[in-house]
Amino acid sequence: MPDSVTLPQPAAWTPAPPLDPEALLALDRRHVWHPYAPMPGTAEPLVVESASGVRLRLARPAHGQRELVDGMASWWSAVHGYNHPVLNAAAGDQLGRMSHVMFGGLTHEPAVRLAERLARISPGDLEHVFLCDSGSVAVEVAVKMCLQYWRSLGRPEKHRLMTWRGGYHGDTWQPMSVCDPEGGMHHLWSGTLPVQVFAEAPPSGFDAEPDPAYLTHLHETVARHADELAAVIVEPVVQGAGGMRFHSPAYLRALREACDAHGVLLVLDEIATGFGRTGELFAAHHAGVVPDVMCVGKALTGGYLSMAAALCTPRVAEGIARGPVPVLAHGPTFMGNPLAAAVAGASLDLLLSQDWRAEVRRVGDGLRAGLARAAGLPGVVEASVLGAIGVVRLDHEVDVAAATRAAVRAGVWLRPFRDMVYAMPPYVTPDEDVARIAAAMCAAAREG
Ligand SMILES: Cc1ncc(COP(=O)(O)O)c(C=O)c1O
Repeated sequence: MPDSVTLPQPAAWTPAPPLDPEALLALDRRHVWHPYAPMPGTAEPLVVESASGVRLRLARPAHGQRELVDGMASWWSAVHGYNHPVLNAAAGDQLGRMSHVMFGGLTHEPAVRLAERLARISPGDLEHVFLCDSGSVAVEVAVKMCLQYWRSLGRPEKHRLMTWRGGYHGDTWQPMSVCDPEGGMHHLWSGTLPVQVFAEAPPSGFDAEPDPAYLTHLHETVARHADELAAVIVEPVVQGAGGMRFHSPAYLRALREACDAHGVLLVLDEIATGFGRTGELFAAHHAGVVPDVMCVGKALTGGYLSMAAALCTPRVAEGIARGPVPVLAHGPTFMGNPLAAAVAGASLDLLLSQDWRAEVRRVGDGLRAGLARAAGLPGVVEASVLGAIGVVRLDHEVDVAAATRAAVRAGVWLRPFRDMVYAMPPYVTPDEDVARIAAAMCAAAREG
């Protein structure tokens, strides 16, 4: 076999000329299915031509703006902003070696370094790292780990999950079953989704005194279902896409205690909260709790590429290994993708080599100052900030089109939903842009 093949030279390939925005939107309408949207779509998306720093550049002006400050960090992920020289360099360097190679029977440095790094910075003894393609898949893997753990120990009846209402864990099957039953549209899937155990939603307020009645409720719910529960799975400290609510870390300690007392595993879904967003590297640190399994994703690659992971303790891995089927039967094609792993490594270098805590605090302080005005607006129930997350809650369902238009007019990209306008900007957002985001949130709250 020849040891090299002749590949076409780059000059033989030229990129297609850019589509004009009208033509692009016509094709988009005809062929492209957007998230949480009907097909064909009813709302026209904005066309982004490029992104750099904290700004999205539009292909044509919208409401008088050609550039928007990004208040969303692309759904919690782009913590370092866009087109970052360090992340670009890491991607370019890795592309020159290999963008992908299968992970079954092969391994490589970017994945090994990343797994070691994740194990080192995660709480407690979460030593074993299963790399996968997206947050939802990481939750599927975490659930599979827990169910298989109990099967391996001869307890297959422990196959259900417990969570609390108001959560969100992704859009594939097991994650959907533990999303908020109303917001997650369980009624659409009744009879097909696994039926899980739901506690009431945790009382709101990160700094609020823990409610003794709710602590008892958590303990009792775990105790009542312990014989059939494989695991409790929750988002720590912030319930994100299920409603953007903050809760006391005391409830996580209560869940840890109840799980330990009744032989149930604890899964913390840090996909949205991980890598500094709440002011701690992982939200579990607020509570001093170590889960048995932890999911990460989103900001893992600084928003460059899709990659997530489920981490577990030796207890979980050894339990699975003791069973009649000692392997974890999961292996996504793009598992451990070297390109994503190399960028994730560089993103963690960037994050950890700076005073990320101070940056997150600075963004949070800016949001808090700018949102002080929101509390007095008609229709606003409350404005709250935790870490680099700002939320304005309304007393009505937001008019998404009107609120988005108001934000864009103010030069900011926001994506309001249900009864709220919220932002979680890149940590590198300069003070004046944080102020602009907060002002746009107020405008969106007023007009939405
Ligand atoms: C807490 C949490 N878990 C899981 C997911 C699903 O991640 P992905 O969209 O990458 O599948 C999300 C996404 O928003 C999330 O916020």
